[in-house]
Amino acid sequence: MDLQAAMQPGVDSVGVIGSGTMGSGIAHVFARAGYSVVLCDVSADALERARKSIGANLSREVKKQKLTEAEAEAALARITCTTERTLLGKVRLAVEAATERFELKRKIFEELDALLPANAILASNTSSISITRLAAVTGRPERVIGMHFFNPVPVMTLVEIIRGLQTAPETYQAVESIARALGKTPVEVNDAPGFVSNRVLMPLINEAAFAVMEGVATAEAVDQVFQLGMAHPMGPLTLADFIGLDVCVDILRVLQEGYGDPKYRPCPLLVRMVDAGWLGRKSGRGFYRYPAEGAPPRAGR
Ligand code: CAA
Repeated sequence: MDLQAAMQPGVDSVGVIGSGTMGSGIAHVFARAGYSVVLCDVSADALERARKSIGANLSREVKKQKLTEAEAEAALARITCTTERTLLGKVRLAVEAATERFELKRKIFEELDALLPANAILASNTSSISITRLAAVTGRPERVIGMHFFNPVPVMTLVEIIRGLQTAPETYQAVESIARALGKTPVEVNDAPGFVSNRVLMPLINEAAFAVMEGVATAEAVDQVFQLGMAHPMGPLTLADFIGLDVCVDILRVLQEGYGDPKYRPCPLLVRMVDAGWLGRKSGRGFYRYPAEGAPPRAGR
C-alpha cells in the first residue's frame, strides 16, 4: 500500500487526539494545508477553546496576509471537533498530542490501534517519551512514529520525526512527505529520551532555573544573556513559562529516568513552582506574571 499517495491533502482525513495548545496547533496546520481533520478530546470545553484559538490564529494569519479570509474559513470548516473517538475510524494518520504521561498515551495508542484502519499510521507528538515503547503496545509497531511539532505550531517550521526501533522505512517516508506538505522542514532523529530537541533544551532551562535558585542572577538577567548574547528569540526562562513548567519537569524526569543520569534531575525551584501551581503562561504565573491575555509579562515570581 502506497502510504504517501494515500495521504495527499484533500484525499484523506487525519485525526488529532488532544486539543490543548499543541493539538490545536497541529489541527490548524493540517487544515491549512488542505487535510480534513478530526480533532478529538475527552473535554467538550477544551474543544470549544481549541476551536476559538484556531479561529483566532487563522485570523492572525489573514491579517498578516498569509491567508485570505476565504482560505481561513475553509480551513476552519475542515476541522471537526468531537469527543467521539469512533469518528477517527476512517483516518489514515492519527497524531496523538495528549498530556505527556506514558500510561495515558499507552491507553490512547491501544484504542487507536483497535479503531483505525490496519494501514493507518499512528504518530505521537510526544516531546520525550519512547516511540519504541508506544509502538510495542500496538499490533502495528512498524506504522508507529514520532511527529514532534513545536509551539507555536503554525509558526515554527521544524518537525522532529522520530523513528522507533520498529518503524518501517515507508512509514518514515510517508510522514516526512506529509510534514513537507504542511510546509514544515522534517529532521530525522532516532528514538532516545528527549530526542534531540529536549535532550539539549531541557538541561539549558534547568540550569537557568538553578542559576536563579542559587541567586546567581534574576530570571530577567538570565533571559537577557540569552536574548542579547546568543540572539535567542526568548530567554530560557521565558521559554520555560511558554512551554509550561509542569511540562519541563515531566520531560526532565523522563530524561533522568531514561538515561539514569542525575544531571537531568529537575531543579528544586522548578518542582516547587509546579507544586504551587505556577505553571507559566497558561496559569498566569511562572518566572514571570501574565496579568491578562495579550498583556506584556511583568517581572517577578
Ligand atoms: N498562530 C499563527 N501565527 C502566530 C502564532 C500562532 N499561534 N503565534 C505567533 N504567530 C506569528 C505572528 O503573527 C507573527 O507573524 P509575522 O512574522 O508574519 O509578523 C510571528 O508569528 C511572530 O509573532 P509576534 O510578532 O506576535 O511575536 P514575536 O516576534 O515575539 O514571536 C514567537 C513570538 C514566534 C513565539 C517567538 O518568540 C519565538 O520564536 N519564540 C521561541 C519559541 C520556541 O522556542 N518554541 C519551541 C518551544 S519547545 C516546543 O514546543 C517543544 C517541546 O517539546 C517542549
